[in-house]
Amino acid sequence: MSGIKDKIVIITGASSGIGEATALDLAAHGAKVMCAARREDRLKALVEKIQAGGGTAAYRVVDVTDRSAVQRLADDTIAEFGRIDVIFNNAGLMPITFLKNLHLDEWERMIDVNIKGVLWGIAAVLPHMLEHGRGHIINNASIAGHIMSPAYAVYSATKSAVLQISEGLRQETGDKVRVTVISPGITTTELTDHITDQDVLDNMGGRFDYVVHSEDIARAVRYAIEQPWHVDINEVIVRATGQAR
Ligand SMILES: NC(=O)c1ccc[n+]([C@@H]2O[C@H](COP(=O)([O-])OP(=O)(O)OC[C@H]3O[C@@H](n4cnc5c(N)ncnc54)[C@H](OP(=O)(O)O)[C@@H]3O)[C@@H](O)[C@H]2O)c1
Repeated sequence: MSGIKDKIVIITGASSGIGEATALDLAAHGAKVMCAARREDRLKALVEKIQAGGGTAAYRVVDVTDRSAVQRLADDTIAEFGRIDVIFNNAGLMPITFLKNLHLDEWERMIDVNIKGVLWGIAAVLPHMLEHGRGHIINNASIAGHIMSPAYAVYSATKSAVLQISEGLRQETGDKVRVTVISPGITTTELTDHITDQDVLDNMGGRFDYVVHSEDIARAVRYAIEQPWHVDINEVIVRATGQAR
């Protein structure tokens, strides 16, 4: 029996990209996945696809900036599947922008989704995991949490925060909760569709010469989950062969 089979896994940001690929991958390996995001049509199609392939999945429409909605997601998962083994706090957005262009609403949105959304996900499952003495919290950071580049100031700051929150959580929860950070490099998803800063858009050339795909990140998530209990994969950085920074 693999370390994935019958694990109950919540995935936020499951309606596209890395979250969607991870839901498909884990379900194909026997996990029961609870998929969350805001776009219901995408979640419904994903769950139907998993079920058509013989897998087990459900979905909830959740905005991760809504603390009580994230708590309901966790409560519903326990009601439907009996417990929570893993949460993949993956929902995020990256409207990168030069600070001088003052896209204040985008700064705020990145902080709300990328940092607070992860915190609400942790808060929603942590008491349950501590009570049961086992759990696994996986947070999606980014290589941008390690490396600063122009236009990335706020986004990188949110991802550095995810790294620090994860390490703090790991130290505090000791032998009861495993904590993993996934730090993807440039991955082909819809993430760049939300960039509105024209100065950024005019300078994107060459940025995507070396990329990985959502499925490549999903395998890293699976690798962390399928380890025996005494092994905690603290961080995985996944970059394309050739991505310089
Ligand atoms: N692609 C990359 O190069 C890359 C690199 C490093 C790290 N990452 C990280 O990977 C994660 C997933 O991104 P992706 O690349 O897969 O991009 P994506 O395809 O745009 O996926 C982002 C997901 O987050 C969800 N989301 C956004 N705001 C949300 C909110 N308020 N509440 C709930 N869900 C929300 C979106 O769903 P809805 O719109 O339906 O809500 C979507 O499912 C992000 O945290 C991102 O920072 C990506």
